[in-house]
Amino acid sequence: MSGDGGRRIVRVETPPKPYPVLIGPGLLEELGPRLREEVRAPRTLVVTDANVGPLYGERALASLGAAGFDCSMVTLPAGDATKSLDSAARLYDALAEARIDRASPVVSLGGGVVGDLAGFVAATWLRGVPFVQCSTTVEADVDAAVGGKTAVNHASGKNMIGAFYQPRFVLIDTDTLSTLSARDYLAGLAESIKHAVIRDAAFFEWHEARIADLRARRLDCMPELIERNVRIKAEIVAMDERETTGLRALLNFGHTVGHAIESAMARGGDPWRHGEAVAAGMVAACEISVAAGRLSRVEAERIAALVEAAGLPVTAPLSHARSRILALMNADKKVAAGRLRFVLADRIGQATLCGEVRPEWIEAGLDRVLR
Ligand SMILES: NC(=O)c1ccc[n+]([C@@H]2O[C@H](COP(=O)([O-])OP(=O)(O)OC[C@H]3O[C@@H](n4cnc5c(N)ncnc54)[C@H](O)[C@@H]3O)[C@@H](O)[C@H]2O)c1
Ligand SMILES: [Zn+2]
Repeated sequence: MSGDGGRRIVRVETPPKPYPVLIGPGLLEELGPRLREEVRAPRTLVVTDANVGPLYGERALASLGAAGFDCSMVTLPAGDATKSLDSAARLYDALAEARIDRASPVVSLGGGVVGDLAGFVAATWLRGVPFVQCSTTVEADVDAAVGGKTAVNHASGKNMIGAFYQPRFVLIDTDTLSTLSARDYLAGLAESIKHAVIRDAAFFEWHEARIADLRARRLDCMPELIERNVRIKAEIVAMDERETTGLRALLNFGHTVGHAIESAMARGGDPWRHGEAVAAGMVAACEISVAAGRLSRVEAERIAALVEAAGLPVTAPLSHARSRILALMNADKKVAAGRLRFVLADRIGQATLCGEVRPEWIEAGLDRVLR
C-alpha cells in the first residue's frame, strides 16, 4: 500500500499488536512526533554506532527533542563484534543512568547490528520497554528490521542469545542509504534477491529489469524495493512468528552454506559482508536444488546471473577450506536431530525446507562455489 509523497506503510501482523513499517525519504524528521503518538514517557535512549551517529544522530535527537523527549544517545563501535553481552551490559548501565522506566522507549538508529542489540536490550530491560527501530542499511531495511528477532552473539556462535520482540514501529528513511558504503549497499541486495527467489517470481523479474539502476544505487528504486521485501517478510512472520511450522525457515535460503562461508572468510584479512556470503550461498543452494532434481538448470543459471549482475560474489576463494566449510555447516543451528536441513528452490518464486539432502548434492553445491 503506498502512502502520500512516496511514503509507504506496511503493517506487520504479529502479537501482541500489529505495527507499521514506515518507508520513504526524509522520515527521520518524523521520528519524534511518531514516537510521541505511541508513548507519553518523558525520556528515551537512542542507540547508534560510530558511523551512523555522526551522520544522523543529530537529526534524530532534534526530532525527538522537538517532540518533548529528554534524550540520551549511546554510540557504540561499528561492526558485528558490538553485538555482544558486553555491549548489552553497557546499555543497561546507560538505561539505568537515563532512568528509563517501563514506559520509556529505546530507539535504535543504524543497521542490523544496532537493531539486533538494542532490540535485545529493550526486550530484557525491566522485562521489556517500548522499542523503535530506525533502520539505515539495505540489509536491515529489507530483512533485519522486520520480524522481531533480536540477538547478541556468543563465543559459541552468532545470534546465540536473543528474544522475539516486536517494535512499536520501524522507520526507514531511504535518504540514509546514500551514505552507505558500496559493499554494504550491494550486500543488502542479496537478501532482496533471496526473498524474490523463495516467494515472488514477479519480484525476481522486477530485479532483472532494474538491475543496472539497483547497482547504480538509484535511490528512487528504494521505496518500492523495500516495501516489497517488507511485505514478503511480514507475510511469512505473521504466519510463523517463532519458526515452528517451517515457513519462516524458508528465509534461510542460501544461509546454510552462506553462514559457513561468512565464518570461513572472517578468518582472513578481508572479511565478507553477510549478504556477500549469502549471495554465494544462494548459488550453492541452487546447485544443490538442481542436483536434487527440484530446480531446472535454466532457472538456477538465471538466479546466478542476477546475483552476479548485482555485483555480488557467485564463488568464494575457499577451495582449500572445503572440510572446514562442511564442519561449519554441520555446526549450524539448522542441524536438527543430527541432520542438515536445507532450503531448496523448486522454481523461481517457490522454495521448500528439505530434511533429506544427500551428501553428493552438497558436494555439487560446494564444487560450484568454492574456487
Ligand atoms: N534480526 C534479524 O532477523 C536479522 C536478519 C538479517 C541480519 N541480521 C543481523 O544484521 C547484522 C547485519 O546488518 P547490517 O548489514 O545492517 O550491519 P551493520 O549494522 O554492521 O551495518 C553495516 C555497516 O554500515 C554502517 N552504516 C549503517 N548505516 C549507515 C549509513 N546509513 N551510512 C553509512 N554507514 C552506515 C555501519 O556502521 C556498519 O559499519 C548482522 O549482525 C546480522 O546477524 C539480523
Ligand atoms: Zn541473512
